[in-house]
Amino acid sequence: MAVETIRSLGAGFGNTLAGFTSHDGIPTLVEPLDPVEPALRKYTNEFWTSRQRQASSIHEISYRACFKPQLPRFFISLLAKKGDTVYDPFSGRGTTVIEAGLLGRNVIANDANPLSRIMTEPRFFPPDYNAIEKRLVTVPRECGTTDIDLSMFYHPGTEKEIIALRQYLMERHAASRDDLVDRWIAMVATNRLTGHSPGFFSVYTLPPNQAVSPLSQQRINLKRNQVPEYRDTHRIILNKTKSLLRSVTPDELKNLNHAGKNARLLTGDSRATPEIPAGSVQLTVTSPPFLDIVQYKDDNWLRCWFNGLDDKDIGNRITMARTVVAWSEVMGAVFAELYRITRPGGYVAFEVGEVRKKSIRLEEHVVPLGISAGFTCECVLINQQTFTKTSNIWGVDNMASGTNTNRIVIFSKDG
Ligand SMILES: C[S@@+](CC[C@H](N)C(=O)[O-])C[C@H]1O[C@@H](n2cnc3c(N)ncnc32)[C@H](O)[C@@H]1O
Repeated sequence: MAVETIRSLGAGFGNTLAGFTSHDGIPTLVEPLDPVEPALRKYTNEFWTSRQRQASSIHEISYRACFKPQLPRFFISLLAKKGDTVYDPFSGRGTTVIEAGLLGRNVIANDANPLSRIMTEPRFFPPDYNAIEKRLVTVPRECGTTDIDLSMFYHPGTEKEIIALRQYLMERHAASRDDLVDRWIAMVATNRLTGHSPGFFSVYTLPPNQAVSPLSQQRINLKRNQVPEYRDTHRIILNKTKSLLRSVTPDELKNLNHAGKNARLLTGDSRATPEIPAGSVQLTVTSPPFLDIVQYKDDNWLRCWFNGLDDKDIGNRITMARTVVAWSEVMGAVFAELYRITRPGGYVAFEVGEVRKKSIRLEEHVVPLGISAGFTCECVLINQQTFTKTSNIWGVDNMASGTNTNRIVIFSKDG
């Protein structure tokens, strides 16, 4: 059954999921979510797959622990109409809000990490390729030096270009002269700083969302017997621009622009978002920071340096709960805030991963948190995808089980 038609089944979100048949014709498995609450149901199926419909190329920005665009699309298509407001309190690279924008919904995003806004905002206003090409011609390829040694990542020529671009962007920003073209360039460059192919500025290193320390990079270089080669940073920015824009249709561009003009993109703690009016959000689709498996600060130090941000300060603001009790305390406060901003009749889809070798099922801890805040728990949805190659989601290797799962707890606010 197509996602768009499930909604017309009417009776409750759980019944809707129970009537779903997967892409491969498999019906939904319905079970009680024991032992937390036997009356509460767990629905397992392959509700979305990457094969089903290609996600827009505009999403192709790497960020640690991001989810696939198909996940928010599933909930947005079902639970929010055009013009409704969709929110993500832990927005990351902005997957939920960019997808919501593409689909003609209004958006609000929040993240404690300022990099989130830097990565998200420009994609609501993609500039013309030619404008970016023209602008890059005016950016010097050489000027000044920097106080940190980046020679283990970059060829001296590449390093000069990165430093010159950073200085150009900072000067434009300081003079409040940075425009959409500059911000697009900053976003793309931030994403090209390090990676594991010649499409990045650096010599071979970990994937782009996990910058290693200079010392670890020296070790990688020794082990691989590699020396950074020159990379033309302007050419790489233009190539990535082309790639990001390759599937965006004129209608999607219009939708993105419209959503971007009305968007609120906040940088703060999702426990307190006074900028968001009470009862204004129809649907929240989010995935919180998990237990201590993902080190956002360590992964982001180079991206922070490039954007003139203090990674230590950001690290202190990001939730790093090491126990379920500490995690639940933070998330309880988040749910109280979500209840305030959710419109009566609205929904929250709260995605949690499998952590610590599946010994902790966070979804079972999430259910009482949402209920305490005032929500009704509709169900737990498990999207189960069989995979054929090594997959690494949320920094956890799931190869042993042969499946990827997304576990999402769905809440509603009484209308
Ligand atoms: C699992 S990631 C979300 C990824 C996102 N779904 C995406 O597709 O990119 C969790 C995010 O929560 C942010 N975060 C951590 N603690 C926070 C807090 N207390 N308030 C707001 N954001 C926080 C992190 O910076 C990170 O971007």
